[in-house]
Amino acid sequence: MTTTNFEQLEKELLEAIAAADDLVTLEDVRVIALGKKGRVSELMKGLGALEPEERKAFGQAVNGLKERVSAALSARKDTLHEAELSKRLASEQADITLPPRPGSLSEGRVHPVSQVMDEITEIFADMGFSIAEGPDIETDYHNFTALNIPEEHPARQEHDTFYFNEREDGSRLVLRTHTSPVQIRTMENTEPPLRIIAPGRVYRCDSDQTHTPMFHQVEGLVIDEVTHMGHLKWVLDAFCRAYFEVDEVKMRFRASHFPFTEPSMEVDVGYAKVGDEIRIGEGDDWLEILGCGMVHPNVLRNVGYDPAKVQGFAFGMGVDRLAMLKYGMPDLRPFFAADLRWLKHYGFGVLDVPTLARGVSS
Ligand code: DAH
Repeated sequence: MTTTNFEQLEKELLEAIAAADDLVTLEDVRVIALGKKGRVSELMKGLGALEPEERKAFGQAVNGLKERVSAALSARKDTLHEAELSKRLASEQADITLPPRPGSLSEGRVHPVSQVMDEITEIFADMGFSIAEGPDIETDYHNFTALNIPEEHPARQEHDTFYFNEREDGSRLVLRTHTSPVQIRTMENTEPPLRIIAPGRVYRCDSDQTHTPMFHQVEGLVIDEVTHMGHLKWVLDAFCRAYFEVDEVKMRFRASHFPFTEPSMEVDVGYAKVGDEIRIGEGDDWLEILGCGMVHPNVLRNVGYDPAKVQGFAFGMGVDRLAMLKYGMPDLRPFFAADLRWLKHYGFGVLDVPTLARGVSS
């Protein structure tokens, strides 16, 4: 093969590459050029017939050709890829300002629990809380011990815990019985001050008209140097007014006991029953909606905080119960029955995103 042949072949191949105007054609050119039986590979077969001193120059020439053709192929491939992507982007453009059309989007429903979680999150986010998360499968330490609930504490029985089998070291994992372990996990990983809520699923071995083995809670935690019970009361009052969308809520703070808070309180809201409807903010009856208190010094110590320097408050509320109260759902069990008729009745439109500006639920 002469030099001119090389040049001629290279010219032909580069032209074919430049002319390929889609990826399939380009792949055909690649096979013709560099494939096992392609034109460049065929050249190499002539190598054996050459004198030893000619071989080196010939080999180098073939390799140089191969490299240039490869480079041209991959550059062309990039260009074609890009062109194809731009074409797709242009043709698949969606105008998100258009109103939804009737169809699957307007048929689907958001579960009341998801909606209420979003409402609660929106309200606390507006007060400067951020969202924290923890695992559903917890260590005994995070679910109990670190929260000042030692091994022999009766609260462990009250929680009807689902335990996993013992591990080799004798410890047992649990399905978390409340969202309070997220307090511990957050404090372990964050320096104070902090202000978080933690929404999530919790599990207890309990099932009747008002209890299901899995339900939902939102935990709240505020830690800094100056936070006191006045702040706790204000936050919960502001939350209830925003959540129930009323100007005033009657609230009653009842002394209670939780191992992880001192003092501890349960909070009731005043309501009136008119027919089947529950009206929050009116009447003389009381409904318990959450537990709260000032974080126990032992809990602070367990996460390495100094109780002489920082303090704060915590609260925990049942989301399912808050949903039932606000949206007049009398029974808890259909929440988890996946009955489409129930979902259609109580569910929310996909675009009903809660915002405070509109009043969370309107
Ligand atoms: N973890 C408690 C429960 O599930 C609820 C609770 C009470 C959470 C008081 C708190 C708190 O953070 O301060 O019953």
